[in-house]
Amino acid sequence: MAERPILGIETSCDETAAAVVCADRTIRSSVVLSQLDEHRVYGGVVPEIAARAHLEHLDTIIARAMAEAGFDFADLAGVAATAGPGLIGGVLVGATMAKAIALVHGVPFLAINHLEGHALTARLTDGVDFPYLLLLVSGGHCQLLAVEGVGRYRRLGTTIDDAAGEAFDKTAKLLDLGYPGGPAVEAAARSGDPSRFTLPRPMVGRPGCDFSFSGLKSAVRRRVEELGGALDDQARADLAAGFQAAVAGSVVDRSHRAIERFEDSHGPGYPFVVAGGVAANGVLRAALGDLAVAHGMPFIAPPLALCTDNAAMIAWAGQERLALGLVDGLDFRPRPRWPLDPDATLSAGADAVKA
Ligand code: KG4
Ligand code: ZN
Repeated sequence: MAERPILGIETSCDETAAAVVCADRTIRSSVVLSQLDEHRVYGGVVPEIAARAHLEHLDTIIARAMAEAGFDFADLAGVAATAGPGLIGGVLVGATMAKAIALVHGVPFLAINHLEGHALTARLTDGVDFPYLLLLVSGGHCQLLAVEGVGRYRRLGTTIDDAAGEAFDKTAKLLDLGYPGGPAVEAAARSGDPSRFTLPRPMVGRPGCDFSFSGLKSAVRRRVEELGGALDDQARADLAAGFQAAVAGSVVDRSHRAIERFEDSHGPGYPFVVAGGVAANGVLRAALGDLAVAHGMPFIAPPLALCTDNAAMIAWAGQERLALGLVDGLDFRPRPRWPLDPDATLSAGADAVKA
């Protein structure tokens, strides 16, 4: 079939998602079921609950994605599933389902690194050529990568503690803003004064391109404690605005350094791409867009629905890999940790590598 549709499956965190994407970059369907209600009472994602919810909903979500796309399983050029990194219970559900479909219908199975899905999204949405600089900012990841080709990623920086989205979520919890935290902090910050509370801008001016957010989160906690019982709506808004400005300042500083390093090795004028759920943040997007423009780099920020977790990016990564003949065996073992750049070490000296 000329369209060469690939079914993508994403179950590595709290979104159960399936999508069908064709080789010509058309997204024929993209269904995302968010488990927000299941996890809200706990203020975060509970891995066991997530895995059970994936198991319960995945077949219906796949059936919907296939029906909306108008294909039968036998039409598929391949089945791609996130095989790591992520919460392993959920990853197993998605990868096993994909293997079963591949086996029954005799189509290739493609084991996709979730981060590669985010990293290649700009090629799906904007047809961007290699190389480009990527800032991946999500709930589980915070990395700067030189994307040089499919399977060719050089990590320039990563977080030495929390991911940016994790910091947004924890700050929202401290400020009683609810879950998920990122959009709640952004909404509260709209009526806030970012200069009322002094908060640190982590890593700004430090060598390298690594991130750190746990000190900022602790500073927010101290301000909340200092206020005692006086955490009214205005204080919440001011703290949210101060926190968001500090994250933006830090991320812009780190990205600036990465741009310089990227330009040193590749030359000027290549795109600066953002991906991941935190890239939905308007303040951050605007600041990063200004930074790219100042360096003469096209700024590519995929639509919000393709920034947060989805299966279209997994199907697309499957297309890229299938085109190169990078098909996987049904004995592929899902990986809870799976760095995109296995040679990368932390320049800031921490020993724990966040996948
Ligand atoms: O990429 P994603 O959907 O899932 C992961 O792979 O982690 O990212 C989810 C993260 C959450 O931490 C969420 O709070 C954050 O992205 N997020 C935001 C915004 N929307 C989502 N953070 C800041 N501002 C937002 N508007
Ligand atoms: Zn993600």
